[in-house]
Amino acid sequence: MPKLGVNIDHVATLRQARGGVEPGAIEAALICEKAGCDSIVAHLREDRRHINDSDVIELRRRINIRFNLEMSINPEIVAIALKLGPDQVTLVPEKRRELTTEGGLNVIKFEKKLAKVTALFNEKDIDVSVFIGPDKKEIRSAIYIGIGIIEIHTGEYSLAKDKKSMSKEFKKIEDSAEYAMSKGIIVNAGHGLNYMNVKPIANIKGINELNIGHSIISRAVFTGLYKAVRDMQALISE
Ligand code: PXP
Repeated sequence: MPKLGVNIDHVATLRQARGGVEPGAIEAALICEKAGCDSIVAHLREDRRHINDSDVIELRRRINIRFNLEMSINPEIVAIALKLGPDQVTLVPEKRRELTTEGGLNVIKFEKKLAKVTALFNEKDIDVSVFIGPDKKEIRSAIYIGIGIIEIHTGEYSLAKDKKSMSKEFKKIEDSAEYAMSKGIIVNAGHGLNYMNVKPIANIKGINELNIGHSIISRAVFTGLYKAVRDMQALISE
């Protein structure tokens, strides 16, 4: 069974909407851990729009499962990550104006920079993963650099409007995953996976971990809303 990494950025996004402390990102991570997920994923963005510096310090201190820090290769963020020492970093492209990570990293274009950053993390025993599209050329470039883990971007698959394009996108993911695994690379996948589309991806033989955020946090709103209303009513009635 593939492992599950839960991305808690979306909890921090809700917190930032009011600029206060609720809902707590660390509390969310601890609930995910208690529920049995395998890792916590958090993206420390350059603009700190959701997860912030103290969140990542607290996560490192308080969770007992693997901490996968999603990040760009911006030197400031690299320095923070090296000091922090998460179990894994997942290197992603980052644009200020995007709503979420839109595409995979262009490993071929940034080969030199990525090789440098990867060496720095390797020295500290921090696993390095790159978030890439289902593209064998990108996978070959990651292998050339010495990266041992890839996360295949499932965004196009998740956004597919009909069955035909969904199965075309699925095939690309499956082929790329099989190719990478045949070269000894650990293969993860994520982005846009939800309760309707996760099964085929989870069924890809040998896939290591699925990283999922938005759909889990969205569902949590509805699985928790009934009780939240009842708890408030109980307080009011007192
Ligand atoms: N993996 C990576 C590298 C991501 O950037 C994201 C989104 O932050 C996810 C997984 C999770 O995507 P989603 O929130 O759509 O499940």
